Amino acid sequence: MAENGQQRKAYDEEVASVAEREERRKKRMKCFAYVAAFAVFQTAVILVFALVVMKVRTPKFRVRSARFDDFQVSTLVTNASFSARMNAELSVKNANFGRYKYQDSNIEFFYQDYKVGEAVSPKGKANFKSTKKFIVPVDLNSANVPGDVLGNEFRQHAWIPLTSRATLKGKVTLMLIFKKNKSTNMNCTMNLNTSSRQIQDLECK
Ligand SMILES: *[C@@H]1O[C@H](CO)[C@@H](O)[C@H](O)[C@H]1NC(C)=O
Ligand SMILES: *[C@@H]1O[C@H](CO)[C@@H](O)[C@H](O)[C@H]1NC(C)=O
Ligand SMILES: *[C@@H]1O[C@H](CO)[C@@H](O)[C@H](O)[C@H]1NC(C)=O
Ligand SMILES: *[C@@H]1O[C@H](CO)[C@@H](O)[C@H](O)[C@H]1NC(C)=O
Repeated sequence: MAENGQQRKAYDEEVASVAEREERRKKRMKCFAYVAAFAVFQTAVILVFALVVMKVRTPKFRVRSARFDDFQVSTLVTNASFSARMNAELSVKNANFGRYKYQDSNIEFFYQDYKVGEAVSPKGKANFKSTKKFIVPVDLNSANVPGDVLGNEFRQHAWIPLTSRATLKGKVTLMLIFKKNKSTNMNCTMNLNTSSRQIQDLECK
């Protein structure tokens, strides 16, 4: 009777320890699954961070619009000319997750390969994912363009195709500490309509 009881007890203990071991195994597996899931999550976070937040994007420097103060045009076929005071609105668009600080820059305006104006855009900053806009005055004139070349243009239509070019140098700061030099080019085309005295068909690369 006593022996029987002892056997019974041993049997119960064994069942209990098997169940316990099984329980512990399950717990270990669960713990392992958590660690693995966390590692995957962590990797995803780091990837998103590296690909989105830490990626350095090239800012966009462009002419947005222009107004004219004083506009003179002579459309003589043999000796055409123009001169105008232009207030050009420029912008620096910064798509980075951090500030873009840029130096001053020289902007040149051309008709074909003849320079017809230039201006200095002041140094400044475009904040985290934002667009900085500012106006610069430009004196445009055709002093460098042969009168007959421009006259031939006016014989075809009442507008002058212009381009504007510049290189802006600056630095992107990410996470307040990582700095990276980044420069950007302006390359815009526009038509100066001599009857409306406005810029039209403005496009920037
Ligand atoms: C052409 O016009 C400019 C003023 O727009 C004048 O100074 C120049 O003498 C003219 N040239 C000729 C060859 O007529
Ligand atoms: C970044 O630009 C600054 C100023 O333009 C220059 O002095 C510096 O050498 C440049 N750094 C790199 C790593 O190109
Ligand atoms: C500016 O863009 C024109 C196309 O509109 C392209 O032909 C030209 O090569 C570009 N110039 C520069 C300096 O990127
Ligand atoms: C230039 O402006 C005039 C007056 O606003 C307009 O009638 C004309 O269509 C414009 N030219 C072009 C090429 O769009």
